[in-house]
Amino acid sequence: MAEIMFSNISELAQLRNEALTGGGSDKIGEQHAKGKLTARERTELLLDEGSFEEFDILKTGRGNGTEAAYPGDGVITGHGTIDGREIFVFSQDFTVVGGSLGEAHSQKICKVMDLALRVGCPIVGLNDSGGARIQEGVDALAAYGEIFHRNVHASGVVPQISCIMGPCAGGAVYSPSMTDFIFMVERSSYMFVTGPNVVRTVIHKDINAEELGGASVHAEKSGVAHFVVPNDILCLREVRRLISYLPSNNRQKAPFLELRDPAERKDPVLDYLIPPNPNQTYDMNILIYSILDGAEFLEVQPDFARNIITGFGRLGGQTIGLVANQPAVLAGVLDSNASFKAARFVRFCDAFNIPLVCLVDVPGFMPGPEQEHGGIIRHGAKLLYAFVEATVPRITVIVRKAYGGAYLVMNSKHIHCDINYAWPTAEIAVLGPRGASEVVYRKEIKAAADPESVLNEKMEQYRKKFVNPFVAARRGYIDDVIFPRDTRHRLIRTLQFLEGKKAVRPERRHGNIPL
Ligand code: HXC
Repeated sequence: MAEIMFSNISELAQLRNEALTGGGSDKIGEQHAKGKLTARERTELLLDEGSFEEFDILKTGRGNGTEAAYPGDGVITGHGTIDGREIFVFSQDFTVVGGSLGEAHSQKICKVMDLALRVGCPIVGLNDSGGARIQEGVDALAAYGEIFHRNVHASGVVPQISCIMGPCAGGAVYSPSMTDFIFMVERSSYMFVTGPNVVRTVIHKDINAEELGGASVHAEKSGVAHFVVPNDILCLREVRRLISYLPSNNRQKAPFLELRDPAERKDPVLDYLIPPNPNQTYDMNILIYSILDGAEFLEVQPDFARNIITGFGRLGGQTIGLVANQPAVLAGVLDSNASFKAARFVRFCDAFNIPLVCLVDVPGFMPGPEQEHGGIIRHGAKLLYAFVEATVPRITVIVRKAYGGAYLVMNSKHIHCDINYAWPTAEIAVLGPRGASEVVYRKEIKAAADPESVLNEKMEQYRKKFVNPFVAARRGYIDDVIFPRDTRHRLIRTLQFLEGKKAVRPERRHGNIPL
């Protein structure tokens, strides 16, 4: 009996050792030569030291198709901690059949996804995969379907984070695209539904992997990636940072983190932030970094639609989701990409109990055929819908321009934000002075001997009458006109009293967001 036990123990040790080597030392060398870490090295770096517990290390495929069975089947799965909080993780092993996904591989991922959902913990996927394992045929497609199904059911219940750490094609991009955040590693990660070879065959176009689906393409053009990092190590470090802002599930609040930054801290510099000339720009980041605890801000999608800023910070220790127009880029105008970017961010925050703070300086929606034909009506409606639907505490500070529809969309009082402050420099009106005067006084201006001086006179009158926060404040649309220097303190106090907010939604299966 003792002999059998001993031989089982040594067999276990041998089987584990075999599985630990993945696709073998040559393949590991190739992986390292590409500047990539192995699946196991990545898992170790992501999680707190020594916290990783693995499942299914011995699981193999049925050996269907032409391939032999591989121990672990090309993916490492399990759980561990990040800053002491439980996380589930899967890490695809490119050294085993290119990290391709077959039946057993998918079953391992599905097991940790199910567990994450059941216990309410984030799930992090480290993706490095050639997509559906060709040799497994329809079983591989079925296997992807099971993951997609779980991605959708976990959405809004536990945070799902994807790191793209190699070439990801086919099904390997659709699962990440349904998760909350995508990290891409510069120069070693690609995402495309069909790779350069297929592009060449089908549409006879030569394009390399980097130009087709490299990190910068997805960060700047498609908006698929949320974060781009220079290498694997920084990628895993940034995932840890992101998780520090998030609750583990939709029933919890984000962890409180005291940064020893006094709530009463005033910043007199903010009184001078807005330039005297309304057409002059300034950098909204000055305000953002001034008000947040410890000047710490994790910007989401910093390179996409830079005319709007989205990201996480803390106020009085509490995580907030920040949405701010950026007057330094396209004057902070709302266009299709900015609307889509902010809408998705707002929905994430609302799903995970993260209060929203909105800093407004928006001249309006971007005019022109390009935007209209590209569907700005549809995309702008996404942001409007997302703000209206959000039941987390919603606070707005109008710092300068808030014109027309864009004023309404940017979390205004009229779409039921909880508290709307304005700076004395706020300009709240239907149109800017020039546009408004040209419409209202068109005939008078046209008939004048000196049209330009009449226009200027009308603009000045309009500016005095409408271009300020006081008309809106008199109506009660603005809850208070505040001194810029007090913004941090007022926001923290407001978040404190909004903590107990309860919002009732009408019963329905689900709304129909203009996707
Ligand atoms: C089986 C695969 C594979 C796959 C790669 N390999 N992808 N094996 N099924 N999908 C194997 C290779 O044969 C090779 O094996 C090893 O992995 C490493 O691949 P290389 O090509 O040598 O690496 P590299 O040059 O870095 O190129 C990586 C790659 C390329 C860009 C991912 O391999 C590739 O284009 N693969 C196919 C991508 C694809 O079309 N996948 C199916 C998508 S359809 P050896 O033994 O030589 O080392 C799909 C359906 C789901 O996913 C759709 C749901 C919506």
